[in-house]
Amino acid sequence: MTDKKATLAIEGKDPIDLPIYSGTMGPDVIDVGALLANGYFTYDPGFVSTAACESKITFIDGDKGILLHRGYPIEQLAEKSDYVETCYLLLFGELPTREQKIAFKERIRNHTMVHDQISRFFNGFRRDAHPMAIMCGVIGALSAFYHDSLDINNPQHRETSAVRLIAKMPTLAAMAFKYSIGQPFMYPRNDLSYAENFLYMMFGNPCEEYKVNPILARAMDRIFLLHADHEQNASTSTVRLTGSTGANPFACISAGIAALWGPSHGGANEAVLNMLEEIGDESRIPEFIERAKDKNSGFKLMGFGHRVYKNFDPRAKVMKQTADEVLKELGHDNDPLLKIAKRLEKIALEDPYFVQKKLYPNVDFYSGIILKAIGIPSSMFTVIFALGRTPGWIAHWHEMISGPYKIGRPRQLYTGPTTRDYPDDRG
Ligand code: ACO
Repeated sequence: MTDKKATLAIEGKDPIDLPIYSGTMGPDVIDVGALLANGYFTYDPGFVSTAACESKITFIDGDKGILLHRGYPIEQLAEKSDYVETCYLLLFGELPTREQKIAFKERIRNHTMVHDQISRFFNGFRRDAHPMAIMCGVIGALSAFYHDSLDINNPQHRETSAVRLIAKMPTLAAMAFKYSIGQPFMYPRNDLSYAENFLYMMFGNPCEEYKVNPILARAMDRIFLLHADHEQNASTSTVRLTGSTGANPFACISAGIAALWGPSHGGANEAVLNMLEEIGDESRIPEFIERAKDKNSGFKLMGFGHRVYKNFDPRAKVMKQTADEVLKELGHDNDPLLKIAKRLEKIALEDPYFVQKKLYPNVDFYSGIILKAIGIPSSMFTVIFALGRTPGWIAHWHEMISGPYKIGRPRQLYTGPTTRDYPDDRG
């Protein structure tokens, strides 16, 4: 794999040779495995320069704003592919042939319904429960229903679980929404496309016909596609770490959903909308910009900045274009929140603080605006992110389980008390 090496010189010790590996793209990595035998751990809080695994699925160059799935640029996939095809690409490594695509779509369709008993789970939740709380519970609970696909060492089982998760996520996400507004659950309609079916289950009701707007369905499909994978982010790493213990796929994806929920990750799209509402008026933008620049305020401009992208997030560019299409279609061009968002974007892109720190708008900045225009409440935004990210999570889990892997077990720099005796005189 390599003939390059790094040599680590530590005072008073023999030099330690560390092999260097090259991937097909991206920075070389130094294999630090030999350090333990020499009495050292590496220290890298936040994993900022740690490659935790080898992967063939997704490549990101954050400085150049590049995102590739199995080598294909995200912009091309957004324009020429669709979400279900991208799911296939992520899972199986190649674009499907025409026949494979038809068969895969059919397979997904055959799994859209959930076991009827699952609907009873919802009654146990308060009506005002956050839909992400419901998703964490219900997705984990799938492992109690689909025993015939839980053997992680059986490739057939793994594939069936992958298809089940992709197929059932829209059904469960829409159920979480319907429960919160007190409307009956809608059964999936398998004559509709993936995104159309989701909109139908969200906004249809048994009393009248619901016609899916094709522009909104296309936008929904794009939102799913743009979220489909993003290599070793916090939630995907959580799925891998959970999977490394041998846990079943439903439990692993539930762990991923929990990790996604936080406002520094998938929760940011909801936080963007809340922030725009809090700003309320363009005149208050400077005040919020100043707060974001003040380290002591603890406030960050939601939807700006990214751990990896130090350039425009390529997904954000496509999302921005989709936002324009949707708002035009719905006649929301003059939406006051959109005006605030556009002004905020302009100011942040010119302000020296944001420019110097390379804080560009990220995908969450625009997705919230589209989802709001479609009529989806902000509490559902992160659920939609989770739905879109499901194939990425499963593809990474599947990739890991398919090869040799170890249980993930990081080490630490311990700075707590040294050994001490429990006092005898505590009364
Ligand atoms: N507003 C103001 N300042 C910011 C912002 C922001 N949104 N983001 C980063 N900064 C500042 C930090 O204070 C830090 O300043 P310093 O160098 O003076 O200490 C510097 O920019 C670097 O930021 P870090 O927080 O160190 O960068 P990190 O990679 O750890 O965090 C993160 C990235 C979490 C995304 C951060 O930019 C953030 O919190 N953004 C807002 C939340 C958000 O939009 N999250 C969505 C992420 S994308 C996704 O999950 C799809």
